[in-house]
Amino acid sequence: MVHTKSRSASRTVPYRSLLYVAPIIALVLFFAHYLFVNALPAIAPDSPYKDAGRPIEERTEDLLLRMTLEEKAAQMALVEKNSITPGNAGYAGVGGVLSGAGAKPEDNTPEGWRDMVARYMEESRSSRLGIPLLYGLDAVHGHGNVPGATLFPHSIGLGAANDPELTRRVAEATAEEVRASGVFWSFSPNLDMPQDIRWGRVYEGFSSDAQVTADLGAAYIRGLQGEGNTPAMLATAKHYLGTGGMQWGTAVNPDYRIDQGTTQASEEVIREFYLPPFRAAVEQGALSVMVGLNTIDGKKMSANKHLITDVLKGELGFRGFVVSDWYGVYEIGGGEYAATVAAINAGVDMVMLPFEYKPFVQNVVAAVQNGDISEARVNDAVRRILYAKFVVGLFDNSAPSNLDVIGADARRALAREAVARSLVLLKNENVLPLFRSPTLRRIAVAGSAADNTGRQSGAWTIEWQGIDGNAIPGATSILAGIRSAAGPEMEILYDAAGDFDLPEDSADIGIAVVGEGPYAEGVGDNPYPSLSAEDLQAIEGLRKVSGEVVVVIVSGRPLFIQKELPKWDALVAAWLPGSEGAGVADVLFGKRSFSGTLPLPWPASIRQLPFTPSGRTADGAMPLFPRGFGLR
Ligand code: BGC
Repeated sequence: MVHTKSRSASRTVPYRSLLYVAPIIALVLFFAHYLFVNALPAIAPDSPYKDAGRPIEERTEDLLLRMTLEEKAAQMALVEKNSITPGNAGYAGVGGVLSGAGAKPEDNTPEGWRDMVARYMEESRSSRLGIPLLYGLDAVHGHGNVPGATLFPHSIGLGAANDPELTRRVAEATAEEVRASGVFWSFSPNLDMPQDIRWGRVYEGFSSDAQVTADLGAAYIRGLQGEGNTPAMLATAKHYLGTGGMQWGTAVNPDYRIDQGTTQASEEVIREFYLPPFRAAVEQGALSVMVGLNTIDGKKMSANKHLITDVLKGELGFRGFVVSDWYGVYEIGGGEYAATVAAINAGVDMVMLPFEYKPFVQNVVAAVQNGDISEARVNDAVRRILYAKFVVGLFDNSAPSNLDVIGADARRALAREAVARSLVLLKNENVLPLFRSPTLRRIAVAGSAADNTGRQSGAWTIEWQGIDGNAIPGATSILAGIRSAAGPEMEILYDAAGDFDLPEDSADIGIAVVGEGPYAEGVGDNPYPSLSAEDLQAIEGLRKVSGEVVVVIVSGRPLFIQKELPKWDALVAAWLPGSEGAGVADVLFGKRSFSGTLPLPWPASIRQLPFTPSGRTADGAMPLFPRGFGLR
């Protein structure tokens, strides 16, 4: 199933007569707007804000002084790209445009992406003040939206590798591919700390441990933004705050169960557990922070003035801008005007609307005129947004770099290394690694994820919900990796279902590559994450024809396997490795050693959920495998 993010509300026309009057009103408004904009002073090319030689603060203030209230309000709007087409000069002046995952150009190639983004950029530059927009997207495991890009392991795999320098290099390589499309803003890293494996976003976080998350998050920001004075692009520390600790059954969205639900946490827990990764992100110079769609203390996070303004901007001294999440502001309730007022007064600087931006601009202007939002608050928001745009060099040089970097060999080699280092060996009855030896002649391979580059890549890959199948250009499946690691002398038999027509013990070893199909966000909320009947069948099929069975689980989270585990000879957690399946084979065949450890506990039963912030199980009993576990 292919989902594209879309939550546009249906609209009804209350009075037929409106159908006739509406075009006339629109025409009048258009001319009024045209006359108004043309009455504004033209901007001289030598205006201080256009001068790259001047300090950023001076340029920001100069530009701010020239902006009308309407232009400021437009800077605070972040619109998804299908709601604002280039060529429609009306949008000029919005602060940002985003591709919600799966929102792609018609020509869905690296060239098509570069050209699409360039059209939006050009259009924004043709606005009166020529303020370039920020194009944002979720490069959460590489430049995943773009077919042919290098796909790194999802964050949970980086958490298993738990090496800040590796994470930094992955983020740096991601930035290079993203910048090649002319994109300057990624909605990553994700600093959520998953405490319940039933959640559909477990794999987007590095770990359930605050220190690991802080260290890897800061390393990721260092890699994405760069370490010099001119960041390569903007990172987004998300989702602020308490996302990962929502309670099962509290989701407001009727289709979800836990995603976007309620986090129950005292101020003390919030400070001790949830805040440190964001403190580290701010210290690292993150240029944007995204507030989550969760609720804390009965209040939607995007309306939480205490946590956004007092804590993040005040105590932590965050200098970048705060962006809200998809439709999150309007979910505050009370109607669009009241919700907008609440969010901006709480400290949200840019609103991911993400649909219509005109009513938003009108609401912000009206709220300032009504005294519901102070002009100082609007200036603060716009100053933060402009600052980030100046500091990243968007006004001066935003030419995309060479497209050749996308999916290039050096990046794939790095991804393959990251995959190898993310594998966690959970059980091994003297089976692994499989060295090439004369006694190993025939290997049988089965399972739904063995020859399925879509599954191993997970969601946020080309489509929001990913693709279940072998449809990821340039990717290597785990099976292909096994074939090349085994070499030509070894016979590899493959059947996804494990249905081999062979006598008992006719294969020396069986490798089951099993796991979950891709899912994103609440779509992946699952009351009991476990292996499918087909995958269990495939493992049984292998058992019939081979003496020993190695199970490799490709999944976004630990699965309930306590019943089946005793029957397996070895177990490897491979998480969602991405495009380089050969990295899995490198470790299975001993080219690299196992070095990953569990970034969160692996529960033994549903009674152990959720984990406490300190990493204990809900029933206090030992999990199947504790956090930090990993055999060598
Ligand atoms: C997700 C964010 C993401 C945004 C834009 C939201 O639904 O919660 O993590 O950055 O969409 O795609």
